Amino acid sequence: MTVIRGATTIPFDDQEEIKKAVKELLEQIESRNDLKRDEFVSIVFSLTNDIHSYYPAKAAREAGFESCALFSAQEPDIEGGLALCIRVMVFVEANFTPIHVYLRGARVLRKDLARMNIAIDGPSGSGKSTVAEELAKEFGIIHLDTGAMYRACALKVLESGIDLENETKIYDLLLKVKLDVDYLGGVQHTYLDGVDVSEAIRRPPVSMAASKVSQYRSIRYHLTEKQREIAGKKSCVMDGRDVGTFVLPDANFKFFLTAKPEVRARRRFEELKAKGYDVDYDKILEELIKRDEQDSTRAVAPLKKADDAVEIDTSDLKIEEVLEKIKKIIREKI
Ligand code: DC
Repeated sequence: MTVIRGATTIPFDDQEEIKKAVKELLEQIESRNDLKRDEFVSIVFSLTNDIHSYYPAKAAREAGFESCALFSAQEPDIEGGLALCIRVMVFVEANFTPIHVYLRGARVLRKDLARMNIAIDGPSGSGKSTVAEELAKEFGIIHLDTGAMYRACALKVLESGIDLENETKIYDLLLKVKLDVDYLGGVQHTYLDGVDVSEAIRRPPVSMAASKVSQYRSIRYHLTEKQREIAGKKSCVMDGRDVGTFVLPDANFKFFLTAKPEVRARRRFEELKAKGYDVDYDKILEELIKRDEQDSTRAVAPLKKADDAVEIDTSDLKIEEVLEKIKKIIREKI
C-alpha cells in the first residue's frame, strides 16, 4: 500500500470551483504517479472550514473515481491556516515512491516550492490583465494589476489639481494617501483612503495621467515597495510594465505580451465603448502610441521585455489561445 498526499485551493466557495479543483487534483495525482483507476483503494479529503458548497468526495465520484472508498471531513478553523484549501490522501494498492501533488495556492504548503510568482508585462491592450486574471483563477492565487496602482495615484493627482509636472508635490500628496488593494470574489479592487476607485481609475483621462505619473522615480519606488510586499506574502500573478525586469526579477515565470498598435487600440476602443464611453478609435490609437513611447523611453524601469521572459504576440490570437500557451509552459515546470 502507498499513500499519496495532495492539496489544492479554490478561488472562492462555489460548487463548480470545487468540482473543477478536485477533478484536476485527482487527475494530476493519477498521471504523475502513473496510476490506473482500479489501483485506487480509498480517497480521503479534508477541507478548510470556509468551504461549504459541495462535498469533495461527491466531486471525486462525479469525476470518475467511483470504484474506491471516498470520504471527506472538515478541518477546524485554524488562524493563519491556508484559506479555501482541499487536502487529500490517496491510498493505492501498490508499492512505489509516491509523487505528492500540490496545486494552485496549496503549493505554498511545499517548502521546496514556496511561493509562485508569475510576471506578465506588456503594453496597453496586449491582453495582459485579462490573461493575468484568468491565470490567477486557474492557479488559485491572487492577481495584482500594478497598472491599477499607478492609475489610482494619477486619479488622486487629477482630483487634487496638482500640476502633473510637479514630482515633489505629487510625491508629498501620495505619501499622505492610503492606497490599498483587496479582493472581492477573486477580483482586485483598488482603494484610495478607503474609497473603492476601481471604476473611476478606468476613465480615459486617467490613462495618460498614469503614464505621466509613472515616470517619476519617487512614485515608482513607492509603489514597487508595496508590490514586492504583496508578492512576498502570497503567490501571485502580477501584471504591468516592469514586473519581470524590476519589481520581481526572480519571478518563477515571466511572459511579455505584445500586439500590433492597431489591434490593441481596437481592443481598448471596444472595451470603452462597451462601458458606455463616447470614444474615437483614431484618438485612442494616437494616445496609445504616445503612451507606449512614454512608457518605454522613461529613465526608470521602462516597459521592456526581460531577457528571460517568453514573448507572445497576441495580435492574431484569441485570449483562450494565449492562456493555453502560458498554462502549458507553467504546467511543464510545476
Ligand atoms: O496597464 P495600465 O494601462 O492600467 O497602466 C497605466 C499606466 O501605468 C501605464 O501607461 C504605465 C503605468 N505603469 C507602469 O509604469 N508600470 C507598471 N508596472 C504598470 C503600469
